[in-house]
Amino acid sequence: MKHLLSLEKLNRSDMEYILNNTMLFKKNRGKETDLFLKNQVWALLFSKSSTRTRVSFEVGLRELGADVIFLNAKDIQLGRGEPIKDTARVLGRMVHGAIIRTYAQQEVEEFAAYSNIPTINALTDDEHPCQILTDIFTFQEIREPIYAKTVAFFGDGSSNVANSWLFASSKLGFNLAIASPANFQPKKNTLIRSGAVEEKSDNHTKVFKLPSGSRLILTDLIDVAAKDADLLYTDVWVSMGKEAELETRINQLSPYQVNKSVVALAKKGAPVMHCLPAYRGKEIDEETFEANADAIFTQAENRLHTQKSILRWITL
Ligand code: CP
Ligand code: NVA
Repeated sequence: MKHLLSLEKLNRSDMEYILNNTMLFKKNRGKETDLFLKNQVWALLFSKSSTRTRVSFEVGLRELGADVIFLNAKDIQLGRGEPIKDTARVLGRMVHGAIIRTYAQQEVEEFAAYSNIPTINALTDDEHPCQILTDIFTFQEIREPIYAKTVAFFGDGSSNVANSWLFASSKLGFNLAIASPANFQPKKNTLIRSGAVEEKSDNHTKVFKLPSGSRLILTDLIDVAAKDADLLYTDVWVSMGKEAELETRINQLSPYQVNKSVVALAKKGAPVMHCLPAYRGKEIDEETFEANADAIFTQAENRLHTQKSILRWITL
């Protein structure tokens, strides 16, 4: 039984399998002959809001032959305190696969352990694996192979999105530079789990070697991260569940906005990408967002194709 619970646990060859098949799904959209999910019913169990993830999974599952049930966690007994492991054992006897968006990573892990059906993490507080696989596919589609390139991430470097970038770079051999205040850099435990080994540091910047041979740079200096980057990336400053920290996050993360002065430091033509939703005037300015809208909305579209490839991999 396969699951996609995190990029931490997904090995390099499985990542490459998913990435390599995505273009076939993109090219064959509307002409699918292998409806490998025919006669199946999949459940989407969501405790947080979603536009892209929900719609791309619902459409993708239907286009592959499955029927879909969307369950808002508040509307089922889970929302009234029924344990996740009991919910998992019930759904596991009725549906063929589950896609879960929630807070604690432990909940998707527990669901997978008890349900006996393929389980996909559609975002937790710790990771957003489907997003980052899509982003890597998109970079490779619009630019070049990501191996040995440098991705520069600005803002909340301890977010789910940043964590998944870190685990991907630890396996796929691209460099990752994260520019954020010290208290928004990846947690020590995340660094240990990624296999990062510190090579050198000064008051502003730490450099680590990752198991893939690539480098991880954690810095509070924007120019150190942006200089010669091949891809500039940002995520919201206030992730779902962090609303109580809104004011401090905006104050501390404001210097890390992606705008034209950041773009000017990167390699010529380096795209700016954003997982969306975007807050103009916060993590990205309007001008930079609109100048990169084609890449950003290709990213959004590619959720559909990448997740079909994930569904193929997980059901083989
Ligand atoms: N990027 C992303 O996961 O978007 P949604 O929250 O709209 O699903
Ligand atoms: N880090 C963001 C990603 C949204 C897709 C959040 O968790 O809200």
